Amino acid sequence: MTADTVAEQIAELLRQPTTTHGLARALRAALKELDVHRTHTAALKAWPDGRIDDAPRKVQIGGGAHRIDGYFNIDAVPPADLLWDIREGIPLHDNTVHDLFSEHFLEHIDYPNSAKHYAREAHRVLAPGGRVVTGVPDAGFVLTRYPSGDADTRTLLKKWYGKRDCLDHINTHLDLINYVFRDQDDDPVYHPHYWAYDHDKLVQLFTEAGFATVEPWEFDPQIANPKREWASVYVVAAK
Ligand SMILES: C[S@@+](CC[C@H](N)C(=O)[O-])C[C@H]1O[C@@H](n2cnc3c(N)ncnc32)[C@H](O)[C@@H]1O
Repeated sequence: MTADTVAEQIAELLRQPTTTHGLARALRAALKELDVHRTHTAALKAWPDGRIDDAPRKVQIGGGAHRIDGYFNIDAVPPADLLWDIREGIPLHDNTVHDLFSEHFLEHIDYPNSAKHYAREAHRVLAPGGRVVTGVPDAGFVLTRYPSGDADTRTLLKKWYGKRDCLDHINTHLDLINYVFRDQDDDPVYHPHYWAYDHDKLVQLFTEAGFATVEPWEFDPQIANPKREWASVYVVAAK
């Protein structure tokens, strides 16, 4: 049985009106994974040992539509330069990357397996003297506002989720916290969050992976997505 056959069968099941809500959720998630699997397998055919021929010095992981000039962009979906499932490893050679950047990516891969694997892979590919910059939604930001009540909830919602169709469902600050920790896992457009991070967790993760220093990174809108400046936390790690 191939992944394509399974995908066709799932699509057929999803079309049937008798398919229950819970099963449909699970099937949609499986379809997404089958898509990533299909793309990744195609790339692996070109580079069976999991390393591309080139050795780009500047690399962005999980940039989505936010491409950075001068960077080689790797993502599971277009419009990246390389479509690759990073949970399978970083497809680059040891000690070759001078600048590895990601923002609002790490929380979308499972913890501990994939997140720790990513941190170890980042350490492996980084050239001596290079840096790994990582930004994520700052879970501490929303949690520190919880004890003071709901006053900030509407502002936070507008800034984070103003363009989405979830606003009817967030009535209290705890609903907002739930969104930060899970995101819209029932909406096919959005990727769920698998783990929440703050500064300390990022430091611990990259230190455990072997980095010698992990410091706060000063937001640079030439590289980072300007819409991420507010309420995100970034660190820069070096070997
Ligand atoms: C929330 S978007 C962030 C996009 C961009 N960095 C930004 O801040 O606007 C998360 C990105 O991570 C990518 N991503 C999630 N899981 C991935 C994986 N396993 N391998 C590669 N990319 C992945 C998604 O395709 C998506 O482009």
